[in-house]
This record gives sequence, structure tokens and C-alpha cells, in this order.
Amino acid sequence: MTQHLAAPLTGTSDDAPGHRHGWWQDAVIYQVYPRSFADGNGDGMGDLDGVRRRLPYLRELGVDAVWLSPFYASPQADAGYDVADYRAIDPMFGTLLDADALIRDAHELQLRVIVDLVPNHSSVEHDWFRRALREGPGSALRQRYHFRPGKGAAGELPPNDWESIFGGPAWTRTVNPDGTPGDWYLHLFAPEQPDFNWEHPAVADEFRSILRFWLDMGVDGFRVDVAHGLVKAEGLPDIGGSGQLRLLGNDVMPFFDQDGVHEIYRQWRTILDEYPGDRIAVAEAWTPTVERTANYVRPDELHQAFNFQYLSTSWDGPALREVIDVSLAAMRPVGAPATWVLSNHDVTRHATRFAGPPGGGTQTREPGDRTLGLRRARAATLLMLALPGSAYVYQGEELGLPDVTDLPDEARQDPSYFRADGQDGFRDGCRVPIPWTREGSSYGFGSGGSWLPQPDGWGELSVEAQTGDPDSTLEMYRSALAVRKEHPGLGGGAAVEWREAPEGVLAFGRPGFLCTVNTTDAAVRIAVPGTLLLASGPVAADGPETELPANTTAWWTV
Ligand code: GLC
Repeated sequence: MTQHLAAPLTGTSDDAPGHRHGWWQDAVIYQVYPRSFADGNGDGMGDLDGVRRRLPYLRELGVDAVWLSPFYASPQADAGYDVADYRAIDPMFGTLLDADALIRDAHELQLRVIVDLVPNHSSVEHDWFRRALREGPGSALRQRYHFRPGKGAAGELPPNDWESIFGGPAWTRTVNPDGTPGDWYLHLFAPEQPDFNWEHPAVADEFRSILRFWLDMGVDGFRVDVAHGLVKAEGLPDIGGSGQLRLLGNDVMPFFDQDGVHEIYRQWRTILDEYPGDRIAVAEAWTPTVERTANYVRPDELHQAFNFQYLSTSWDGPALREVIDVSLAAMRPVGAPATWVLSNHDVTRHATRFAGPPGGGTQTREPGDRTLGLRRARAATLLMLALPGSAYVYQGEELGLPDVTDLPDEARQDPSYFRADGQDGFRDGCRVPIPWTREGSSYGFGSGGSWLPQPDGWGELSVEAQTGDPDSTLEMYRSALAVRKEHPGLGGGAAVEWREAPEGVLAFGRPGFLCTVNTTDAAVRIAVPGTLLLASGPVAADGPETELPANTTAWWTV
């Protein structure tokens, strides 16, 4: 008999007879990065109580669900993505009772809760790994990770040539209980994050049990960390050459996007389906193509997968149109909703990505032109929220926050920053605690400072400063989410119909609705297509023609 500590949110709407429409198919899901959202106890670090107290803000913003990055017991080698105990809350974030209270309160406010699940690797502090090390070679627990003898005469070389995503070799040598150099273990990320061996039945069993634990706690779903990494190619074959990370995203690697992962998700789906109230899972799966991403959301697998191809696209009209078409086409055969995302805790905020020349990638240290970046970010947001499917919003983007590109080196905590040639490294810039008030200790984040320094002027971007100002980015998000909820042509449902438009302008219709996006740096004249609903910049709509300013999106009801 399962016990629901917090009652699940039930209620799905039926579109048409025979077609069940799950809440997640058009949901706007808000990512909370618990360290940096709100600090309830004044220790400078965000926590679950802080999140709970700010739930009314999220409700008022108009999102449907909250995804929380990890808050589990962890030595925090990778900001909590190194989990020591999947069923415990790190004291820095609170207790299981706090999690229960948060889930309950969220449900009362009609907000769903999605938690982060980290199945690719544990922390080195996980009990299994600690015992595996302690018991030495031959310990049965070593089978649950990837331990291998080294190559070379004395085992002094790593077992294969794989490189860590965070830079350096993907292997670390152990020391035997007697002090002699021992076997190596695999870690695709930091050395503190040993990869599980998913061929071992105990690993699969344990994660099925962890899923149930959180489902019993009442969560509405999971964001699956590194969902593409769980299964490794048989024999852990060499890749050849160095600079492998450059291949990521173009080729299927022996450690990513192996076909075997899908069997795991089929099993998970049966568990999710056993629970009432539409519980879902969303894959963090970086794959070479949207078609391969679609494999994760086949009808008997997960519900959604992040659209990283969309996130990686520059502010460029034709490129955006293409990625939208390709994404919708890839999802159609599997019947899954497309998802759209512009920012998260691993990439430079889009207000900064779009502030520089196109092609800057998902990580940049350049602040660029902030005014331009914000204008494009606002336009990009209205474009995203007009697309069919589900959208993800990362905390602070509704305030138009830029990335903090000039954090002092000694403040940085991203483990990748400290390893040479890593793929990431500047992720702290999007993780700076968000400003709630104009003044005060850490601008309302908490009463005890902030674990990453906030820049001067942060208070002017605060919730307090923007609330009630019709030109603010926060009010634009609030309006957009309200319109999206009410307008029958928005959210899930009908695909986009492209209309003819001047170069660099995207125009697409959905039932009773038209979206026009000027991605260029010059205003364009367009025929007024209907009644203006909302725009990301100043648009007049009182004549037969109007000017769509540079880098501006307008929504029309037609
Ligand atoms: C995912 C997370 C990232 C983390 C990595 C390793 O990509 O989003 O923050 O560092 O997995 O767990």
C-alpha cells in the first residue's frame, strides 16, 4: 500500500473523446535552482523553505509546474548533481519534512512539482561507492560502478581514452586498502561523480525504488539528469584521438545515447503509469539530432525531452524557423509534445548569449551589448511561448537577468572551471542568487548574504522593482503566461503555419492567432494583421500598417 504524504494533483483535461490530454503537453515549467532562489534560514544558501515561501510568486507568475534542481544529501562537488543519498535532503536545503511541506503547498496552489533524478552517477560519498573502495578489488559492490585495471606495465594508464565532460581523463585511479595503487573508476563528469554500471540489476532495482519513494512523496515528475548516459557501449571501446568533446553533439559516442538506455525508460514508464494524476519524466538528453532525441519520448518511454537544438540556436530568423520545423516534425511521429527552452543552470543566460555576435555557443564570458541582449531575449521569449508544446523557464529569466560574466575567479565554484579543457566552466554566471528587492541584504534573497556575489545594480532588476511596471520584463512574462492560458490558439494543439514575411521576419499563425518576430536590427513595416495582444517592445497598432521594431515580437489575435 503506497502512502501519499502529499496528495497528488489530479485532473487531466479531455480534448476530444478518445484523446487524453495530459497537463504536461502544454505546461510552462519553471526551473528553480534551489541554491539561488530564496534563502529561508539566512545562511547565504537557498533552501526548500525559501522556495516554499516564494511559491505564491510562481503561482502569480502563471507557470504550471516547478522543476527543482537537486536538493539531496550531497558533498556538493557539482552543486548537488553528486548525490550521496537519493532519499535524504541535504541539511543545507532542509529536511524531508520541508520537502513534504513544499509539495503540499505547491499542490494547494495548483503547481506541480518535478524533482531532479541523477541516475548516471552517484557521489563518491554514496554508501555503495565508499564500501566498494574500502572493500578493495573483488568487492561485489565494485560491479555497480565501472572499475577496471589500468593499462600499461603497472596499470598506470587509464583503461580507455574517454575524456570527462568537465575536462581531463574520465578515469581516476584508486588506492587499495593496503595503500598500493589500485584499479581505476569511470566518471564522465567530475572525479567525485562515479558512473553507475547500469548492466547491474541492483542499480536498476535501486532506481526503481527511488522513483517510487519520490512518487509516494507526491511529486508529479522527474527531470532525468544525463538521461543519454546510463548505458555504455559494450567493452568500453576507445574513441581515438583527443579533443573528443568537440565530437559531442555530432556523433553518437560510446558513452552517450546508446540504444540500451531506452529499455530503462520503458521500465520507468510502467512505474509512472501506476500512479494517479499523470506523473511524468523529462529527459536531459543531449543527442546529435532532434530525431534521436525523439526516441526518448516514444509513447512507452518518457514524456518530454529538452530541446537543446533549440536552446543552441542563435538569434537568427532562418535558423530559428528551421529548428522549429525540424523539432515539430521530429516529435510528430512519436506523438510527444515539442518542448522549448532558452536557458537553464548549465548555459549562459539567453539575455547574454543574444547580446553578442551569433554563433557564440551556449557558454560565453562576454557581456556583450546588454540592452540589445535584453531586447532580443524578450522577443525570443514571446516567440518561444507562442510555439505549440511545453516551455521551460529558468529562474531569473523573467527578470531579464544577464549572466554575471565578471565573477571573480576565487568566487567560482563550477567544478569544470578547475579542470583544463572542460566543456563547461562558466556556469556560475547563471547561478547567481536572484534579486527580490531593490535594497537589503542580498537583495531579498536572504538575510545572510549570498553564496555567489551579486553584482551592483542587481536590485534594479528585482521582482520588487519590476512589479507593476508595464514595460518590465517581469510584467511581460506575467502577461504572456496569462494570454497563453486564455487564448485557445496558444499552448498545445495545432502546429504553426508560416506566413510570408520580409527577410529576417518570422510570421506564423495558429488558430485565431498570429505571431510576428523581427529578428533583424532594423524596424520593418508590416500590415497590421489583427488586434495586438502583446509585444516585447513598443508596437503601435492603430492603422492598416505598422512598424515592427528591431528585435521585437508581437502577438496578434486574428
Ligand atoms: C547535467 C546537469 C549539470 C551537471 C551534470 C552532471 O548536465 O544539468 O548541471 O553538472 O549533469 O550531473
